[in-house]
Amino acid sequence: MDIAMIDDRVLPMADLAGPHLDRGLYFGDGVYEVIRSYDGHLFALDEHLARFDRSLREIQITGVDVESVRQKVLSAVAQAGYPNAKIYFHITRGSGRRDHLPAPDTAPNFLMTVSELKDDPKGKEKGIAVSTHPDWRWKRCDIKSLNLLANVLARIEAQKKGAGEAILVDDGGMITEGAGSAFFAIDGKEKVIITRPLGHEILPSITRVKVMQVAHNAGISVVEKALTPHQAAECDEMFIAVTTKDIVPVVQFDGARINDGRCGLITQQLMDEFQAFVRANV
Ligand SMILES: Cc1ncc(COP(=O)(O)O)c(C=O)c1O
Repeated sequence: MDIAMIDDRVLPMADLAGPHLDRGLYFGDGVYEVIRSYDGHLFALDEHLARFDRSLREIQITGVDVESVRQKVLSAVAQAGYPNAKIYFHITRGSGRRDHLPAPDTAPNFLMTVSELKDDPKGKEKGIAVSTHPDWRWKRCDIKSLNLLANVLARIEAQKKGAGEAILVDDGGMITEGAGSAFFAIDGKEKVIITRPLGHEILPSITRVKVMQVAHNAGISVVEKALTPHQAAECDEMFIAVTTKDIVPVVQFDGARINDGRCGLITQQLMDEFQAFVRANV
């Protein structure tokens, strides 16, 4: 008899339930999204659903109606009742016998969680330290895939160094992005914010786009170019951007203080303008 063991419990393999056969578990064979609400209003829902739809198509998971995902999100958020919620959901290719090649009848699995999103005022006010790490991820980082091992390892290493985020550096020595965030540096004299251009090397972050829009509206130029860690460290200010935290100032980069260890003026301006932008767009 084919058997399975779950911790210490032995059971016939035929009795393994769907979650134990999920291809997300064995292969990271799925894609995910993270959305947030501000004061009961979902932010950039259309953009997140469009990115999710693209991620599904890029890994050839078919038969998912993204409109039904929208309805699930709205329903779950209403049921949880948090004004500020973090909504996580993923779709895996489905469950089945462990085989790289999926069986033709494999049907996608859906999972969503809604949790209360608590602000981190200290991080936003005082800024965070970041440290650089080699970018060990695969070659399609534009897909929001469940394969996050390299991101996890980089975060663990960053934490050991007392850093709140790992900034990933590609094989050519250029910064790609944070392990879980977009990365921006600022040339204060030129009043320019700098971030890596989109491509297979980074996630098309929704917050990145919104920050660029906010900067544009505030008369701050945006230059999309890759920086080395050395070039970034010579910049006047830095910040990271991600849905769950929007903008967080970076005040230490690989041990070196940025802007005397304080949130910079342009970063603060962007943070304020971002909040105004959110209030006007939810
Ligand atoms: C690798 C990576 N880059 C960037 C981001 C920021 O994306 P978004 O602004 O859409 O939250 C994330 C968010 O999880 C991420 O994991």
